[in-house]
Amino acid sequence: MLVRACLATSLDGKISDGLSTTPNFTSREDRARLFNLRSVSDVLLVGAQTVRHESLAPLIRNPKLVEQRRQRRQNDHPDVAIFTRTGELPWQNAYFQAAKQKISIFSPGPLSDSNARQAQELDIQLFTYGDTMNVAFDQLRALRYKNVLCEGGGSLIHSLLAERLVDELHLTIAPTVIGQGDSVCLVRGPLLDPRPEFRLKSVNQVGDELHLVYSLS
Ligand SMILES: NC(=O)c1ccc[n+]([C@@H]2O[C@H](COP(=O)([O-])OP(=O)(O)OC[C@H]3O[C@@H](n4cnc5c(N)ncnc54)[C@H](OP(=O)(O)O)[C@@H]3O)[C@@H](O)[C@H]2O)c1
Repeated sequence: MLVRACLATSLDGKISDGLSTTPNFTSREDRARLFNLRSVSDVLLVGAQTVRHESLAPLIRNPKLVEQRRQRRQNDHPDVAIFTRTGELPWQNAYFQAAKQKISIFSPGPLSDSNARQAQELDIQLFTYGDTMNVAFDQLRALRYKNVLCEGGGSLIHSLLAERLVDELHLTIAPTVIGQGDSVCLVRGPLLDPRPEFRLKSVNQVGDELHLVYSLS
């Protein structure tokens, strides 16, 4: 299973201004890069706060990319695995109510009865994995996912890096500064020890923006 993570950061390491429902500080090429990575993925991993904050659907918008997925015998849209501890999700949102993608929910322990009922009504499969994300990744492997794309946010990326579960980091650095001390940073959580170290695989400059690919050493 190949696990990629794809995020965009400002020069001051922020991935969101906390206001916009979609990150709006990167170029059209960066958005295309994300959509291309999505289009080759079997499943997208996403943290609950990103689901609460962003309008994510539809996941694949370009008919050509959908056609390429069909030729590869993939569903039109990649599946989505949402990671949550609380299970508090915007169940009434079109993302759930008019879902074009198969959704599953991964949590360390069982959801509350009411959240589990909401998930059941929407035909969402629930997985519990206990103390370690490694178990969740075994569950993803058992579902026969080969290409996994983690779309963040910063807190979910931290959980993955803490257990060295990211093979490739696709990082866009946008030539802007967001400021605001409490806005979300690229990796959000306690000190990582040992620190994951990466090797630079490729650099692509698009105008003043950098598109980097790192692999975990
Ligand atoms: N620029 C970019 O590339 C980019 C990409 C993605 C997101 N974003 C932005 O980033 C912001 C969200 O980032 P964030 O760091 O606040 O939140 P996040 O990582 O999207 O979600 C955090 C939530 O995910 C759940 N979670 C995290 N780790 C978990 C684990 N190991 N097991 C189970 N559940 C886990 C918890 O959900 P519960 O609270 O439900 O327990 C946690 O509160 C949004 O503003 C979004 O728009 C930007």
